[in-house]
Amino acid sequence: MSEIAELETEIRSQIDGASDEAALEKVRIASLGKKGSISAMMKTLGKMTPEERKVMGPALNGLKVSITDAIAGRKQVLGKAAIEARLVNETLDVTLPLRPSPAQVGRIHPITQVTDEITAIFADMGFSIAEGPDIETDYYNFTALNFPEGHPAREMHDTFFFNEGEDGKRKVLRTHTSPVQIHTMESQEPPIRIVIPGKTYRCDSDATHSPMFHQLEGLVVDKKSNIGNLKWVLEEFAKAFFEVDQVGMRFRPSFFPFTEPSLELDIQCDRSGKEVKFGEGSDWMEVLGCGMVHPNVLRAGGLDPDVYQGFAWGIGIDRLAMLKYGMPDLREFFDADVRWMDHYGFRPLDMPTLFGGLST
Ligand code: DAH
Repeated sequence: MSEIAELETEIRSQIDGASDEAALEKVRIASLGKKGSISAMMKTLGKMTPEERKVMGPALNGLKVSITDAIAGRKQVLGKAAIEARLVNETLDVTLPLRPSPAQVGRIHPITQVTDEITAIFADMGFSIAEGPDIETDYYNFTALNFPEGHPAREMHDTFFFNEGEDGKRKVLRTHTSPVQIHTMESQEPPIRIVIPGKTYRCDSDATHSPMFHQLEGLVVDKKSNIGNLKWVLEEFAKAFFEVDQVGMRFRPSFFPFTEPSLELDIQCDRSGKEVKFGEGSDWMEVLGCGMVHPNVLRAGGLDPDVYQGFAWGIGIDRLAMLKYGMPDLREFFDADVRWMDHYGFRPLDMPTLFGGLST
């Protein structure tokens, strides 16, 4: 009996001395565990006489229960103390300034912004968006667009050619978005009203030319669209894009193999100050090429030019971005400099819409 009492006193003092839950667990294993001191005493029961066992059995069980309870009680006390200690140490200063969220710090690239602005304007006029591959065959990039073999206009495009393929032909990085006109005519019945934003490639690099740049093509094909409609569409576009009520426009004759007649559009502006201002002044700025779709192009698209007619245009997106937002060097667009993006970029949640404002 005194052996049990001694053991109990010793274990209890260890329990009281355990300073954290890990130490307490060690005490539990040393006493109640398989090889623990209480378990060892339990094992001696088998060798006792029945009389001894009658006394020692309940006594040992009592010890086991009382130690188990004592450990549970101590565990509660230690657990509470541990939480209190954490609450004291882990303080949070709620007066510190908030770290800005990614939506506040991130920026939309001006090219993306201007593409969204332009497509919002044309979508509002009822145009849908079409896309095509960046890698084209010579046929789609040139031949189907009425560039004859060996015609100097092919050289004007500073084309990037791929190595010869298995068929002996060289694919190209598209030099303009116009090939998507042909893809669309091949797959879609008129009336066609599409705009085609995309990347284009030419072997050229200086402050206003980059080997990869962006265009937005427009195509309308039906039975009666005429040059008056073309003028109206582009005038409405120019007013909406430059966010002015009136814009003076001037169409100049030009040449593109895929349009006849071909025109270039200048819009009136004022370049006397530091920035270009649109809708006033006595200067002109060329903004796009356009024209009535050439009968050969309609034929290449599988349409009968005696039944269908239409107009098309191609805008340089990068150039429009430079004009509207006053960025002097095109190459900086593609430098991936976060400081530049911070300055010229747009807030990600401010989507350009006609009702909410394009650039506000
Ligand atoms: N594809 C022409 C270029 O890259 C731009 C262009 C001019 C497109 C007139 C057209 C157009 O659709 O009608 O220079």
